[in-house]
Amino acid sequence: MITAKHAEQHGKAFPELTEDVIARMKDAPEPRLREVMTLLIRHLHAFVREAALTQDEWFNAVQFLTRAGQMCSSDRQEFILLSDILGVSMLVDAIGNAAGHGITDSTVLGPFYTGPQRELGKGETILLRDENSEPLVMRGRVCDADGAPVVGAKIEVWQTSSNQLYDVQDPNQPRGHLRATFRTDAHGDYEFRSVMPVSYPIPDDGPAGQLLQQMGRHPFRPAHIHFMISAPGYRTLVTHLFVAGDKYLASDAVFGVKPSLVVTPERHGDGHTITYDFGLATSDDSQRTRQPG
Ligand code: BEZ
Ligand code: FE
Repeated sequence: MITAKHAEQHGKAFPELTEDVIARMKDAPEPRLREVMTLLIRHLHAFVREAALTQDEWFNAVQFLTRAGQMCSSDRQEFILLSDILGVSMLVDAIGNAAGHGITDSTVLGPFYTGPQRELGKGETILLRDENSEPLVMRGRVCDADGAPVVGAKIEVWQTSSNQLYDVQDPNQPRGHLRATFRTDAHGDYEFRSVMPVSYPIPDDGPAGQLLQQMGRHPFRPAHIHFMISAPGYRTLVTHLFVAGDKYLASDAVFGVKPSLVVTPERHGDGHTITYDFGLATSDDSQRTRQPG
């Protein structure tokens, strides 16, 4: 345990080293890189001092990061998972996507957005095969912050199958199953058919999963549908809608839940309808426009 004695002893360890590392960046050609690296070095050194990190612990950390790198492939991004479970993704998102009246809250992109996907007409289904889940009709309008409809907005959606996997994680699902692109009509309205989403664990068979376990946390995300909504002149909105009542709403493994994004489906017969209007910020409402990636 870190005691006051430790903190006193190591809090001041080798201060000139930190200043030396920072000073040697004086010729860095990129000012922003120099600014960010200066802060990183200060905080990293302060962390090492405060934690009184041992050589064994630091070596463990290096081995952990090595395993994370080795886990990465074209289908698996372990560093995004680490950023997500440590709350960094949500923090960066909050800084880049200021909230505001009439603007829908954003949340994490996650690793399962796969880029351009098939475009469907209003009211069509995103299923490429039957699913063992209750049917869902998802509909609403895309507006600007003042409530005026945004015509022709591009709405990209994706969700897991009832087996808790995305198409890209599951060789038994047809590629493109449970994901598609729509456009809002002349009134800014959209509608598509799907099935009720389910809660699922993020990929936890690698270092991020081990860390979750060591931190005493579970890997689950509450049931949700992903949306990426873009239109010329507007900030791209990356968000999800979560289903009210899910047992993981208060403990999402990636901290992505915001109260405004929790919806209560309306039940009708053997299916459900969710009606949700999205509000887009204009590109000028933020210092940085988010690029889908
Ligand atoms: C997702 O919702 O698809 C997701 C987000 C962060 C980590 C893993 C999965
Ligand atoms: Fe997801």
